[in-house]
Amino acid sequence: MSNQTNHRPVRKAVFPVAGLGTRFLPATKVLPKEMLPLNDRPLIQHAFEEAREAGIEEFIFVTGRQKEMLEEHFDFQPELEQVLESRNKQDMLAKVRESEMPAGKLFLTRQPKALGLGHAIWCAHKLVGNEPFAVILPDDVFLAKKSCLAQMVEAYNEWGGNIVATTEVTKEDTARYGIIDIEEDNGRTVKVKNLVEKPDPEQAPSRLAIMGRYILQPEIFNHLSAFETGAGGEIQLTDAIVKMIGSEPLHGFRYEGQRYDCGTRLGFIETNLAFGLADPEIGDQVREILKKHIKGNDEYALSA
Ligand code: G1P
Repeated sequence: MSNQTNHRPVRKAVFPVAGLGTRFLPATKVLPKEMLPLNDRPLIQHAFEEAREAGIEEFIFVTGRQKEMLEEHFDFQPELEQVLESRNKQDMLAKVRESEMPAGKLFLTRQPKALGLGHAIWCAHKLVGNEPFAVILPDDVFLAKKSCLAQMVEAYNEWGGNIVATTEVTKEDTARYGIIDIEEDNGRTVKVKNLVEKPDPEQAPSRLAIMGRYILQPEIFNHLSAFETGAGGEIQLTDAIVKMIGSEPLHGFRYEGQRYDCGTRLGFIETNLAFGLADPEIGDQVREILKKHIKGNDEYALSA
């Protein structure tokens, strides 16, 4: 185990938000998918708050066409604040202020073509510079006592190197994730021998999947800049991480908490239910609503 003081702090986080959100069409025809509301705030704000809780100071969005709303969301809104102030809506005012980005802390770059997650991260190389950084995929959200990234930063302060968040998935779901080939399983942390992006379940080296939180060393950009394509013909982040094995330790980190998938319609509905149930303001009412609907009422079906 290395010494805590040896590791450069993680001050920056990259948020890849250029995706088209095709799974949510037509809702995402104009609206960025990261603006879809999960409980009372958009997905991107959940990601931002998690990073802030983990001590991140600089927020780097890799955006694309029609994503301007994301930067708008984090801006100061003087008219709105005045109205809330004049109506003495202090609760709402506090909520609005939670979504304000400190001045000089939001950085934007663009990914002009959807060439893969690895390419999106590469697009941030100038803004990250030569220091370790976090990656947050806003589709993956967590309910946890301490945020997933905050837990990972603690692990990083102990271990250094590269760290990926991980959890067990079913055999068939291994085809949807980067999967860990385990060298040594120590429970909370796993030493990684190899990573395989979206394997055929029959060939998956384990059921331990990467969830959308990473702490990476800046040397990853040397590998990403080769623009090599991998699974699905895309430039994969997992492939670049694998290339660093041997020069940097790579750990899988089993976080404490529950991860939810906002990247699919069904996952998104489940996540909204889970966050509604977990919300102290409305949780009991959501439970009652669920009980009512669980009894079944198929009188009015949506057309397919
Ligand atoms: C990406 C990564 C994959 C990871 C997943 C987590 O895949 O490439 O390794 O397991 O995120 O959600 P995507 O969901 O973007 O296809």
